[in-house]
Amino acid sequence: MILALLTASPTAVTRAFHVQKHQIAKNLVPFLATTTTTTKQQQYTHCSQTNTRLYTSTTEPRIDTAFSSDTIQTSTQTNIGTPSTSFDDGTTPFEITTPIYYVNDKPHIGHAYTSLACDVIARYMRHSGREVYFLSGTDEHGQKVEQTAKDKGYKDPLTFCNEVSASFQELLTLLNISNDEFIRTTQSNHKEAVQHLWKVLTEKNAIYLGSYEGWYSVRDECYYNESELIDGKAPTGAEVEWVKKEDSYFFKLSEYQDKLLDYYETHPDFIAPESRKNEVVAFVKGGLKDLSISRTTFDWGVPVPNDDEHVMYVWIDALTNYMSALGYPNMERGSNYDKYWPASLHVVGKDILRFHAVYWPAFLMAAGLPLPKRIFAHGWWTKDGEKISKSLGNVIDPVDLIDTYGVDPTRFFLMSEVTFGSDGDFSDEKMIYKVNANLSNELGNLCQRIMTLVFKNCGKATPAEIGELTDEDKALLETAASLRGLTGEAISSQAIDKYVQHMVSTVWAANKYIDVQAPWVLKKTDTERMNTVLYVLMEVMRHVGILYQPLMPTSSNVILDQLGVPKDERDFEHLDKEECKILLGREVSKPKAVFPRFDVPSSD
Ligand code: MSP
Repeated sequence: MILALLTASPTAVTRAFHVQKHQIAKNLVPFLATTTTTTKQQQYTHCSQTNTRLYTSTTEPRIDTAFSSDTIQTSTQTNIGTPSTSFDDGTTPFEITTPIYYVNDKPHIGHAYTSLACDVIARYMRHSGREVYFLSGTDEHGQKVEQTAKDKGYKDPLTFCNEVSASFQELLTLLNISNDEFIRTTQSNHKEAVQHLWKVLTEKNAIYLGSYEGWYSVRDECYYNESELIDGKAPTGAEVEWVKKEDSYFFKLSEYQDKLLDYYETHPDFIAPESRKNEVVAFVKGGLKDLSISRTTFDWGVPVPNDDEHVMYVWIDALTNYMSALGYPNMERGSNYDKYWPASLHVVGKDILRFHAVYWPAFLMAAGLPLPKRIFAHGWWTKDGEKISKSLGNVIDPVDLIDTYGVDPTRFFLMSEVTFGSDGDFSDEKMIYKVNANLSNELGNLCQRIMTLVFKNCGKATPAEIGELTDEDKALLETAASLRGLTGEAISSQAIDKYVQHMVSTVWAANKYIDVQAPWVLKKTDTERMNTVLYVLMEVMRHVGILYQPLMPTSSNVILDQLGVPKDERDFEHLDKEECKILLGREVSKPKAVFPRFDVPSSD
């Protein structure tokens, strides 16, 4: 039965009719966002090659149903924002941070990885209607930076910092990272904030003057106990040097052992993943000694208030960036600090978890300030099975990855190849295989098939009329509609790879559907059915395009443009709005390829 007989232009009548006739998939989209924030997206397109190969995937992607977060309290009940968890109510403003990067060397894949993970989460939150403050920056003080600047022949460390910090900012732009702020620890407002925090800690009697001697690793900017050393080196493999007895201010870390252990117990989701949390708990249970927090043998740091002989330990300086960027010590009502602190999420690499999950909360407890809500430690990348290091010459330059594969494929691979939190191994073969299979063959090709059929067979417009929906149509539409809930749960627990798996699975289901329904055959036998099938597929692609924006901002917008989804209807609140569904009879333009296809390099 024909449900609609409409002409090709998107009139009010078309829209009203469309709303009435498509009361399907009612159980959809759980969250209704009320506000949106625009990201500072840079438009970068990488869609050079036309790919007309048919869909060839034969193995159904598997979703790991043992969903990592047992912390999710609600899945689809909330009507704004993201699912609430024990550490985030899903609605309040959200501060997310990357570590601030050392400027002793140019950016590598590790820096790109943390920044990308934060970007996907930040964008997802914004599209969900959350107010987001996404912070990144550079860590510019300390012995390591001072030494490197000297070794490289710079007359002063700041000139060196300016150059390297700029290369980090460029990388963020190239990766299409939507950070709201980029902080440098050499900024005067930051230095003032650190000095303020120091004064507060002094007033609270958390700091005293003593003397230090012991092992120090300049590469890790970390003190180590004799018992921690392995074959005379730091547990990270870094060289250590003996610091001869020198005056030093100490933070009374030993007083925080029980307080921290209590805190971890009463806030079981403060540190994630669980295995890393266990390492932190074991470290703290092993006993905490007071921490040396100033040095007198070099100058490149924030001076200790009222004692110019000392500069602060780089970690107390660095960690404070998370608050100084928000204007700390201005904590007035309405300030950014008031709005965004405590931070919702610090994303860090596993090597720097101790600083974030032990020292930082202890400093904040001592200062009487609220603690961040969650610290998530991700794993490390190796290359072809080997640890990445300059001496092995296997450093992966993220700029090379972008040049070779394009931004969105790079984002896709790094975010989906391994469970977020575990280590991962990079190889060009894996990258090419994954990008060709999931993006070029499955997503890009599907999109092109649908839009080519629509363009050729429906008069260069979306179908003007469709028939009754079958069970298969409804099932696929429901799969697409469930995506928001599933991906929201994944992102709320930082299971970024699972978010991608849900998307990949839906695309796979759509490919299966198009092959079974065969609209190219229906064209000759039943045009009404062909129209319905194409309409269902376009509607599924609308969901996919909208929900892929956090991961692949440029490509998903190319898909949405091809579908004719208006720019102001691309937030998650629009997913289940009847009036935002694909309009019948709307003009479409000639489709073009969205993702390139790469040749696997020959093994000889
Ligand atoms: N400056 C400190 C952080 C201070 S935050 C208050 C620092 N900087 S860093 O530049 O050395 O490291 C930044 C991030 O890169 C860390 O989270 C680290 O884990 C990450 N990575 C460094 N190498 C990595 C890989 N090979 N793989 C994944 N991430 C890795 O530490």
